Amino acid sequence: MEGPAYVTDSLIAEDIDAYLAQHQHKTMLRFITCGSVDDGKSTLIGRLLYDSKMIFEDQLAALETDSKRVGTQGQEIDFALLVDGLAAEREQGITIDVAYRFFNTEKRKFIVADCPGHEQYTRNMVTGASTADLAVILVDARKGVLVQTRRHTYLCHLIGIKNLVLAVNKMDLVGYDQARFDQIVTEYAAFAKSIEVESFTALPISGFKGDNVTAASPHTPWYRGPSLIEHLETVEVLGEVDVEQPLRLPVQWVNRPNLDFRGFAGLIATGQVRVGDAVRVLPSGKTSTVSRIVTMPNAGGAAGEGDLEVARAGQSVTLCLADEIDCSRGDVIAAADSAPQVSDQFEAALVWLNDDALRVGRAYWLKLGAQTVSVTVQQPKYAVNVNTMEHIAAKTLELNAIGVVEIATDRPIVFEPYATSRALGGFILIDKLTNATVAAGMINFSLRRAQNVHWQALDVSREAHAALKHQNPAVLWFTGLSGSGKSTIANLVEKRLHALGHHTFLLDGDNVRHGLNKDLGFTEADRIENIRRVGEVAKLMTDAGLIVLTAFISPFRAERELVRAMLPEGEFVEIFVDTPLEVAEARDVKGLYKKARAGQLKNFTGIDSPYEVPEQPELRIDTTAEPSEAAAERIVDFILGGRGDSWMPVI
Ligand code: ADX
Repeated sequence: MEGPAYVTDSLIAEDIDAYLAQHQHKTMLRFITCGSVDDGKSTLIGRLLYDSKMIFEDQLAALETDSKRVGTQGQEIDFALLVDGLAAEREQGITIDVAYRFFNTEKRKFIVADCPGHEQYTRNMVTGASTADLAVILVDARKGVLVQTRRHTYLCHLIGIKNLVLAVNKMDLVGYDQARFDQIVTEYAAFAKSIEVESFTALPISGFKGDNVTAASPHTPWYRGPSLIEHLETVEVLGEVDVEQPLRLPVQWVNRPNLDFRGFAGLIATGQVRVGDAVRVLPSGKTSTVSRIVTMPNAGGAAGEGDLEVARAGQSVTLCLADEIDCSRGDVIAAADSAPQVSDQFEAALVWLNDDALRVGRAYWLKLGAQTVSVTVQQPKYAVNVNTMEHIAAKTLELNAIGVVEIATDRPIVFEPYATSRALGGFILIDKLTNATVAAGMINFSLRRAQNVHWQALDVSREAHAALKHQNPAVLWFTGLSGSGKSTIANLVEKRLHALGHHTFLLDGDNVRHGLNKDLGFTEADRIENIRRVGEVAKLMTDAGLIVLTAFISPFRAERELVRAMLPEGEFVEIFVDTPLEVAEARDVKGLYKKARAGQLKNFTGIDSPYEVPEQPELRIDTTAEPSEAAAERIVDFILGGRGDSWMPVI
């Protein structure tokens, strides 16, 4: 390797500040290389690194320092949320096999993500692509467009990479034949059009021989376009375009070091902001004007040094507003006259990243920027066969699957379609129990029904309903195996409460399944839906001021937690009717265990369908030690007296 002419390694070692100063003005291009194993990906990356005289030592350390410092100076270093989440996943020990490499030319800095090509690595590709501005799709000139070429192009397009480069590699092995190159480009163009890719750049190269990688090749006089490096150096980076878009600043935190200072800190996702600009805070919709733009080190300090007149996409700043309006973490500060949407239902594309398949109806956390909400996902509208682009019917999404779903959030979120904004349109789903990142998602659009169905403001409030009944509403949620004694105890509790003058209602599994839920069976999906509906009904009943008792097996923790989250703090009382399987089975009041053991009844809880024991129920009843009457008395005592200050029943 020749001695590095312009990237002085020694400068890094001796004077990192001088090195950084030398490179600060450069923009950064993140790109991803895709191709199957023998398309020559590694050779090409090797050549790029070699020809651009990459830094061999300390390259990553330098990058990290570089990024941090550059960040405070306000250049584009945002690692998109998607990757934050996925990074978290990596910390949890799930391997995502993406190698990031850093190199440098006189014009630009580059980070290249090298992703394996097989279908089972879809999630790796999605990870690599999620922060990329450009994708280099390698094709072996001898083989032409393959299934992988199509799959990678589709995924890159889905993830929103606008700059696609078709690198027809190994041109030396086809005698630099223009006709062959043209044929591949034509075939690829037809495919690209079919998936609505607007444009791409095609180059004939040889990674091995170096043709058209860093300089024009004498072997392809018929090709007049730039070399790959020239293209990478000059292609417009999204961050540069983002300044033209309306202002979006997702608030990461509220900075209030003292009473005189209140600022909203975050990274400007798009657009720019000046002191005096009118802004709107979403989701509340309140407006104000920007009184100060403060850079991090000075936040909280007096006006003056560190203040900016104007800040742009990619900069991390703290904004102060002229008015004392509500604004908290997760809110978005936007241009007053062009604000993003607010909705609680939307359609999105999902890439499933977890070994546990999507559970329709189950509650997951959705993280979009600094917003975290509870969501449920409907049955996929379709899944996409990533090799043929066909839409296929799907009940769920398995690992590496891609599908389109409808999602409902428990409160409105601020967002934009992913096609408009990666920062406000890209999200991850997190399993509530394991905390694993299970999916990456891209919002397509808000559902019109969400915009047209509004909350009706009701004059007779839930408090008014409850006050008239002289009680605080609650849900007493009994859970346990079939035959554990839930209905028996719930029935006794209701009788006592009723006798004491309380307004109650008992929802019982067997009864509700004859009416409201008669369309549901006992598959996992049906049980999830059963509990979701019962939860919604119980909630409505508490709105009406009632004390609701429910007796359902409710075998899954996630759904019990879903119902808990629907209700105000303290109103959900989980009562675990803890009867060992042997005991419930020995009782076998309805003869169902016998049938299940004989194989006549499938998916029976405790036999061939799981029961997830409550971890922290408010009450646990050991029915082998405590008679039903005593248990009922204890429950009544608990809710009428023993729930502390947060629950003060008035009879
Ligand atoms: S849950 O799992 O969805 O919460 P739910 O409480 O509504 O169940 O209904 C349980 C009752 O349905 C049981 O008490 C039993 O009488 C009856 N049953 C019929 N088939 C099954 C089954 N496969 N598993 C459990 N219970 C069943």
